[in-house]
Amino acid sequence: MSGLVIVGAQWGDEGKGKVTDYLARQAHLVVRYQGGNNAGHTVVAGGREFRLHLIPSGILYPDKICVIGNGMVVDPEVLFEELDAFIAQGVETARLYISDRAHLLLPYHLRLDEVEEESRGEERIGTTRRGIGPAYADKVARSGLRTGELTEPGWEARVARMVREKNRIFERLYGVPGFQPEQVVEDLKPYVERLRPYLTDTSLILAGALAQEKNILFEGAQGTMLDLDHGTYPFVTSSTPTAGGACHGSGVGPAAVSLVLGVSKAYLTRVGAGPFPTELEGSQCEEIRQKGREFGTTTGRPRRCGWLDLVMLRYAARVNGMGGLIITKLDVLDSLPEIRLCTAYRAKGKVITEFPASLRLLRECEPVYEELEGWREDTSRARRERDLPPAARRFLQRIAELTGIPVVMVSVGPDREQSIVLQDVFFSPQKKVLQA
Ligand code: IMP
Repeated sequence: MSGLVIVGAQWGDEGKGKVTDYLARQAHLVVRYQGGNNAGHTVVAGGREFRLHLIPSGILYPDKICVIGNGMVVDPEVLFEELDAFIAQGVETARLYISDRAHLLLPYHLRLDEVEEESRGEERIGTTRRGIGPAYADKVARSGLRTGELTEPGWEARVARMVREKNRIFERLYGVPGFQPEQVVEDLKPYVERLRPYLTDTSLILAGALAQEKNILFEGAQGTMLDLDHGTYPFVTSSTPTAGGACHGSGVGPAAVSLVLGVSKAYLTRVGAGPFPTELEGSQCEEIRQKGREFGTTTGRPRRCGWLDLVMLRYAARVNGMGGLIITKLDVLDSLPEIRLCTAYRAKGKVITEFPASLRLLRECEPVYEELEGWREDTSRARRERDLPPAARRFLQRIAELTGIPVVMVSVGPDREQSIVLQDVFFSPQKKVLQA
């Protein structure tokens, strides 16, 4: 038995989609455990580009079981749009199972996300406006609806009651129109029958797979710094992308996880608001943005770009119990004459080596950089470590030395094949913590 958790080590968009797709080859099951369609993974397979928002990346393999875990919030409209697109391309989707405990994301959550963001004014979070925060807020407030409830008699009345409750908030608090309860129910009806065959207690599937020594890949969405507890609160998402979330959001115990791998770009990006100590401006940012196609998969927003922050990466390694690192988009740095690694911060006359909880302090942090020579060579064709230029190998080595975590894989382009494996540890249950 081997459970491998893939987590984003930054603010999301680290290239986890490609990595999970690559590692799914060796997995029997691929599980998503948090978030919703705020995530956007792009996977290039066989020259075709696929966009995934809710469905685990394993769907592109004909033999993988894919699970949408209880920790996710599911917008049925988006789910079936995505499923229909796969079906139209000949992808077989009967291997998808959806937890009957996952929460539903309904139209009023989307509108709430909009009006709440607008009312925050200057302090807006920059959410994806996909209704994620309001759907999780309802879950925690015990006002949410679970997917499984749609198969039980009387769901219509419950939905209608929820709509009426939300209407009071829309109309009285925000002064915007609410929804027709009957219309929301009518719009949901076509999805109820379509959802039914996918719904089950997915924790049972996972327990069965663990008993049969199968390999399970837990696919984290967003990233550590967007985690509700460990991220740069309040500029975070409303779920638990960190490794602990894999258990909680899928219904397995911690012993099911044999290794946690963190995915980090060779640089750093962020969408949405919040402090970003290594952020670049002007042409340097633009160069990385254009070469790295740093525009949101879900919203199309240009991403903020900066140097790799090892204070953050060390923190992410700690809170996730990371055993190894996967560095993506190395090729984006190919043309740069000089590359920087942030090794510490400076603030209030002190050197800070641990990522602070206080955003006020983080805003004051000036990065301390180590400068490395660029390699100025095309790495996109490298397939083995020895194909990489010495300066690129040195860059990877410094990341491992300064974080204490080994780099086990490097990605040099969007295609499945543009991957270099440095240590093939992915599904070996004995190796829980690797040596840098
Ligand atoms: P929400 O998840 O839509 O509520 O957005 C909260 C914060 O998380 C915002 O800063 C978003 O830009 C960010 N975010 C959410 N999903 C992703 C993602 O998949 N990649 C990168 N950032 C994300």
